[in-house]
Amino acid sequence: MSPEEKKNTEQNKIEYDPITNEPLVQGESYDGIKELDNDMPTWYKWLFYLTIVFAVIYLVRIFIFKAPDLIQADEYAAEMTKFKNSATEKKAASFVVKLQTSPAALAKGNEIWHQICAACHRPDGGGLVGPNMTDKYWIHGNTVQDLYNVVTNGVIQKGMLSYKNQLSNQDRLDVVSYVLLKLQGTHPKNPKAPQGKLYK
Ligand code: HEC
Repeated sequence: MSPEEKKNTEQNKIEYDPITNEPLVQGESYDGIKELDNDMPTWYKWLFYLTIVFAVIYLVRIFIFKAPDLIQADEYAAEMTKFKNSATEKKAASFVVKLQTSPAALAKGNEIWHQICAACHRPDGGGLVGPNMTDKYWIHGNTVQDLYNVVTNGVIQKGMLSYKNQLSNQDRLDVVSYVLLKLQGTHPKNPKAPQGKLYK
């Protein structure tokens, strides 16, 4: 039997749905109900191929490249950092610049002063490269906020550095409070000549 003939006899066996005239699945009958022998819809097949492509990309990313957005622990860590950062930002936004009077704050201010600021302003605040902190003369103003701004932003062109990144908000506030409460009004020997305006 030639392939052509074989195909014909096979086709002859095919039963057709009496209403739609479409071929029925051969040899399958459930309680007399026969299924149509339709192909799967094209879109459905493509959906299936897509899931395969997706799975391959997904597995390669997760097992070979260890993509941080797919590893649960990394994802969790990233979310936590995001949350913590937003919490610190909120805290920074609500930070109030106000003279600190507690012994703990002033002790911290004292420590920072001697560690960082004394090199230019002298340990006793008498002034060296930087201005005298003990007199009533100020270049940039004498309020807590004025001093805080100078320490935060610096006066780079004049040699005063910005401590925005090196010191926390609280540290900067503690050290300027120390200047105003512990150095202001003292009379160290050989002070640097007054600079700026007199504030009474
Ligand atoms: C590298 C040297 C240097 C260091 C370190 C330094 N300063 Fe200064 N500071 C200066 C100079 C110079 C000026 C003067 C800026 C100007 O002429 O505008 C100044 C100005 C200031 C002023 C403003 C004074 C005024 O008359 O208005 C304050 C307040 C101040 N410094 C505080 C600090 C504190 C607090 C620290 C430590 C955290 C510090 N400085 C560390 C060099 C320094």
